[in-house]
Amino acid sequence: MRNKVNHQPNWRRSPLAVFCGLAALMISGQPVLADEDGKAAYEKNCQACHQPTGTGLPGAFPPLANNPNVDGEPNYLITTILQGKSGPLEVNGQNYNAMMPPMQHLSDDTIAAITNYVLSSWGNTGAEVDDDDVEDVRVELGLKDRAAGKPHAGATAAEVRYKGAPSAMSGGKQIVSPGAPPMSEAEFKHAQEIYFQRCAGCHGVLRKGATGLPLTADITQEKGTDYLKALINYGSPGGMPNWGTSGELSDEEIDMMARFIQHEPPTPPEWGMPEMKGSWEVHVAPEDRPSEPQHDYDVDNMFAVTLRDAGEVAIIDGDSKEVLNYVETGYAVHISRASSSGRYFTTIGRDGKIDLIDLYMFPPQVVAEIKIGLEARSVENSRYKGYEDQIAIAGAYWPPHYVLMDGQTLEPKKIVSTRGMTVDTQEYHPEPRVAAIVGSHKHPEFIVNVKETGQIKLVNYADIDNLQVTTIDAAPFLHDGGWDRSGRYFMTAANENDTIAVVDALERELEA
Ligand code: HEC
Ligand code: HEC
Repeated sequence: MRNKVNHQPNWRRSPLAVFCGLAALMISGQPVLADEDGKAAYEKNCQACHQPTGTGLPGAFPPLANNPNVDGEPNYLITTILQGKSGPLEVNGQNYNAMMPPMQHLSDDTIAAITNYVLSSWGNTGAEVDDDDVEDVRVELGLKDRAAGKPHAGATAAEVRYKGAPSAMSGGKQIVSPGAPPMSEAEFKHAQEIYFQRCAGCHGVLRKGATGLPLTADITQEKGTDYLKALINYGSPGGMPNWGTSGELSDEEIDMMARFIQHEPPTPPEWGMPEMKGSWEVHVAPEDRPSEPQHDYDVDNMFAVTLRDAGEVAIIDGDSKEVLNYVETGYAVHISRASSSGRYFTTIGRDGKIDLIDLYMFPPQVVAEIKIGLEARSVENSRYKGYEDQIAIAGAYWPPHYVLMDGQTLEPKKIVSTRGMTVDTQEYHPEPRVAAIVGSHKHPEFIVNVKETGQIKLVNYADIDNLQVTTIDAAPFLHDGGWDRSGRYFMTAANENDTIAVVDALERELEA
């Protein structure tokens, strides 16, 4: 990712413009930008929405011409450019309720030039502001310090990197959707790649919305290409990264993405029992595994280090820090979990591949593997007394399900879909992803967090054929969690409403 942002307006680079600026400076004693510069900056930053002659688009973007809110109100214009605008608005009897992204990244000179241009065009009655006036407004709004170098307004860089992390998924076929702007098959393919790489983490594979808003074709077509392009380009204060002004996507790519998201999302293939069984391999059967460690290292003091890009995990002895083996695993291992007994490590890659590593063997090696989905994040082992190492569970992002497996061989036993209704609005969600899973010490249960529906599932593995699942309604979007020190309470954070759900694993209920 490129994070350097070049917000230098064009006029600074043009020798002619600098010359004009200098001439103006000598005459007035103040650096006032020529109209040309204001026009160019308007075209670059505002025109996509407010249109070339400031007419706006009725119902979508308010006009800047013949608008009493704007005419003769330079500070209002400057404030709006700096802060963006959202919420209901009425101009000349026409209602608006949309969102304008803030543009604090523009320099004071540029904002002054745009303001002067807008207020001296299309019948507006002129205003003369300069960079100092813009600076005053910035200070007044408390934006002065935050103005520079904040590429993703509203989202920290780390957050964007985490949520926007590439998906391991490759996609489905192009669906040509009525009402969507045309695109070639090659464009569709490229756009889909960008979408899975950069957008799916926040907007969901099926675009039903997760951290980001839903981007289904009915919604995006109504908003139209210009609006979508502007939003992808500038981002928004609600946490949408500014892909264009940060330099991460080119103008062509933004145009392509804006068209792509107006088509029906291609559905990636399902991954069910036949596919799982097809990918399942036992390299060393349980009866052929050693009954005690074949080495003098301490099995309880080994750890696994992910070598992400190599698709390997290094098994390291905690005492000597010696690497005992490099084990080949799935693409970008997401987590490694030690089994209850400490004998096994189970790893899961973002591509859904699980490897069971036996630490008794020397060197430690993979004894069984399976792929449980196309995109996955979590794996866990049974921890209740009497069930240690017997059952394994893994949760997938796509398809949205979790699967119970034999803990010794990874043979898939039961797949449970998480598709269903959300806790808050009771609406159907086709893609509720499985986030953190933990094994309870208090009952023969796994505690499974389902993100988009906001449910916590208590999955009882005592009788897999007659699986008992208790559903606790928590809050969307459940993310990650952990045990308290007693091992009784499981706490999990819900991203969307900044709450933490606390589950009492003993009483099997939501505590807070
Ligand atoms: C992504 C599209 C988009 C871009 C780009 C954009 N605007 Fe806006 N602008 C809007 C929307 C939408 C509204 C109305 C917001 C609402 O209804 O709450 C708006 C509102 C405004 C208003 C307030 C109008 C009123 O009557 O209250 C002004 C002034 C304005 N924009 C100026 C600008 C200027 C100047 C630029 C360029 C620096 C710009 N806008 C760029 C979408 C955009
Ligand atoms: C870090 C999370 C994140 C990533 C990554 C992300 N978005 Fe967004 N996106 C958001 C959020 C949050 C919103 C809602 C913004 C708001 O309400 O202000 C949004 C809004 C949007 C909107 C406007 C939807 C509307 O109805 O107004 C579009 C279009 C969009 N995103 C497209 C994309 C595309 C295309 C990509 C990939 C290039 C992408 N997003 C990547 C978080 C993200």
